[in-house]
Amino acid sequence: MYEHDVVVVGAGGAGLRAAIAAQEEGADVAIVSKLHPVRSHTGAAEGGINAALRDADSWEDHAYDTMKGSDYLGDAPAVEALCKESPEEVIQLEHWGMPFSREEDGRVSQRPFGGLSFPRTTYAGAETGHQMLHTMYEQVVKRGITVYDEWHVMDLVVTDEDDPADRTCHGVVAYDIQRGEVDGFRASGGVILATGGMGQVFDHTTNAVANTGDGVAMAYRAGVPMEDMEFIQFHPTTLPSTGVLISEGVRGEGGILYNENGERFMFEHGYANNDGELASRDVVSRAELTEVNEGRGIEDEYVHLDMRHLGEERILDRLENILHLAEDFEGADGLTEPMPVKPGQHYAMGGIETNEHGETAIAGLYAAGECACVSVHGGNRLGGNALPELIVFGKRAGHHAAGKEMGEAEIPTGKRGEWEPAEYEFEVDVGAVGDRGPAAADGGAVAADAEGLMEAEIERARERVEDLLTRKGRNHAEIRSAVQETMTANVNVFREEEGLKQSLSDLREAREAYTEVAVSDPSRTFNTDLIHTMETRNVLDIAEALAMGALARREFRGAHWRKERQERDDENWLKHTLVSWNDGEPELWYKPAILEGEAKTYEPKVRSY
Ligand code: FUM
Repeated sequence: MYEHDVVVVGAGGAGLRAAIAAQEEGADVAIVSKLHPVRSHTGAAEGGINAALRDADSWEDHAYDTMKGSDYLGDAPAVEALCKESPEEVIQLEHWGMPFSREEDGRVSQRPFGGLSFPRTTYAGAETGHQMLHTMYEQVVKRGITVYDEWHVMDLVVTDEDDPADRTCHGVVAYDIQRGEVDGFRASGGVILATGGMGQVFDHTTNAVANTGDGVAMAYRAGVPMEDMEFIQFHPTTLPSTGVLISEGVRGEGGILYNENGERFMFEHGYANNDGELASRDVVSRAELTEVNEGRGIEDEYVHLDMRHLGEERILDRLENILHLAEDFEGADGLTEPMPVKPGQHYAMGGIETNEHGETAIAGLYAAGECACVSVHGGNRLGGNALPELIVFGKRAGHHAAGKEMGEAEIPTGKRGEWEPAEYEFEVDVGAVGDRGPAAADGGAVAADAEGLMEAEIERARERVEDLLTRKGRNHAEIRSAVQETMTANVNVFREEEGLKQSLSDLREAREAYTEVAVSDPSRTFNTDLIHTMETRNVLDIAEALAMGALARREFRGAHWRKERQERDDENWLKHTLVSWNDGEPELWYKPAILEGEAKTYEPKVRSY
């Protein structure tokens, strides 16, 4: 067993920043990741980091834009922390050597992004995430922080009290992909989950194959509530054949969207008369799909994004990476022809419920970055707000886990604040299939002390791996495909009651099929069949929580559009959805959104662009 003060799971932007922060506070910190840090999906982030850096801009304006973008489901204390602290974090990155794009006078460049009232997106060409990841990894190496890469974390080690609020997280159990062995990582100070997105729940996504929501699923099974899972961002410009992202930076620099008739539909069909292509992502994605559904799409599938008028010099200076992606993955030359684009799953606004210090409802367990829901994005995230979230809340979680005094959080976690049960009755069974085992927290165990708990969990994980490797049964791939197909068909940009119900019953079938899953590759090293099989369980748990939230929320807010009620319903739905895994039985409940901030109360207004 390995022992550290703080164990960070995941080595993308949030994980690296959390580890650096914990180390700054004097903690012995280790990162455990299934990927080498510079292969983390943060490296695929293209467009930029929002930060109010200029005199004419302010964190208050950034906060207002973010609350409006969230369709008033962001929590003001978290939104304000993000917007206040993003500038100092960007400057910190610059001091660490991040090669930002610059103006002639040497200042860090900023460009317009969707839903922003000021061009406040700092960037490094169209490879901002890549540069950020490498900059922070250098700091991790320089500081001698231990990295256990190619370790797949299987579950959290959490005590087994009935009420999740009484549980404590003592560490994680993980599978060493290189050696084929299970071991434990005990964390005396805290475990920080920073495992990124869950895009593999869908079949057309900008997310990497590794984005299976592992941290989200293991926190859920340990009893941490999942927040606002139904809010999924579909990015308007992904390549049709692969889902590869074409950055919003293209539209920020002046790129234009056209339909099959050559109409600039964002204006000509009145989707966003002020901001056009730079309306927020939910608005642009719905506009594109409406064009396709009404017969004005190209090949009944996509629209065109044209950047030729920007000129070769500007494109090469600011968007060179886009040229390579469009050419390599779609065979389109962005200098001489428009690029085909369509909406694709890009980001999960929801995830592990946390407060603004990164704490979850379980003592000793933190989360930061895309896997967490703090909530800064509410119903819809603004482009350029993901990377600052990683560094601001990664740092906060790292500091807190390392023991820094940070005062009392304003955002309650678990059922500690005001909450109400959901009235919704699901028509199909949800949750665990069959025997739920003796532990209240699936992934928890009963033991007298932390050491004993760790040993018990390591043993349980070893048995699970042995079982998967030796039993005969069904392949994970068909089960994962079934999940992705139903989620893409029924829980996409446009959602309706019947489709959402269908998704839940398809997911039930997939869950039942998973009880028979087995690994066909018997190898003990680099067994990707085994890893994907374990990940598929995570994908299933998350997909179900997501579909449940989407079915219960009968209103149209942010990225969640419902055919049955195509308007925002502030009277009934100005609240977060929570799903808790109670001994294998998901429970749906709600807590109010916090609109009172330090700067002001963010009164909900009509959201137009
Ligand atoms: O379009 C983009 O470059 C993506 C940025 C983001 O998701 O923040």
